[in-house]
Amino acid sequence: MDDREYEQLLQYAKQFSGVTEDMENTLQGLYERVKPHMAEVTDSFYTVLLDIPKAEPFLIDRLDALKETHNRWMESVFSGPFELDYVKAMYRVGDVHVKAELPVEFMAGSMALITTRLHQLLGTIFKDEPEKLIESVSAVNSILGFTLMVMQQSYESSRLAEELEKFLKITGMSRTLFDNLASAYKE
Ligand code: HEM
Repeated sequence: MDDREYEQLLQYAKQFSGVTEDMENTLQGLYERVKPHMAEVTDSFYTVLLDIPKAEPFLIDRLDALKETHNRWMESVFSGPFELDYVKAMYRVGDVHVKAELPVEFMAGSMALITTRLHQLLGTIFKDEPEKLIESVSAVNSILGFTLMVMQQSYESSRLAEELEKFLKITGMSRTLFDNLASAYKE
């Protein structure tokens, strides 16, 4: 991906998820309130994962390290800014999962789990402040949806690269010829 493609992905993911500057402020404002509970959210996330037979093999021998990584990632969700650097970082995280051969549905499944856990937590933090609760829940939904779109794009890019490799192998066409044809076609 080049910078232009990252920029396009940023705008596209923002349109779908509806992440705004106000939400970024909301998330940053939540950081101190959520931080003391992040380890619990992470622990409960991995407890569920360990019960999923397809997920368990990816966790063996590295659970503590993964939990630490996961906590750091969660801190970034309540930090921002959600601009180009965040997109690049999350695309790279997506890519790490592609390379580790994690099934793509793990990404959406994980986000569903984490969203639920964070909503439950916010429900307790803002139990007497319904407006703040709605504002916080909306911001968390948007940023996790945004992040999911970016991480899944890594899977899509990898799928397209594999398709291209297959095409080149089947046709015997060189990569250079393909690139030349593709750029001529664009013009
Ligand atoms: C919302 C979902 C998830 C997020 C945000 C997330 C976050 C991360 C991050 C930040 C990294 C480190 C990337 C780096 O090296 O810089 C990572 C690595 C990894 N994650 Fe996830 N993860 C998610 C879901 C999962 C799930 C469901 C599994 C397995 C069931 C998993 C297994 C792994 C593995 C195996 C690595 C590579 C560890 C290594 O070998 O260094 N992740 N993840």
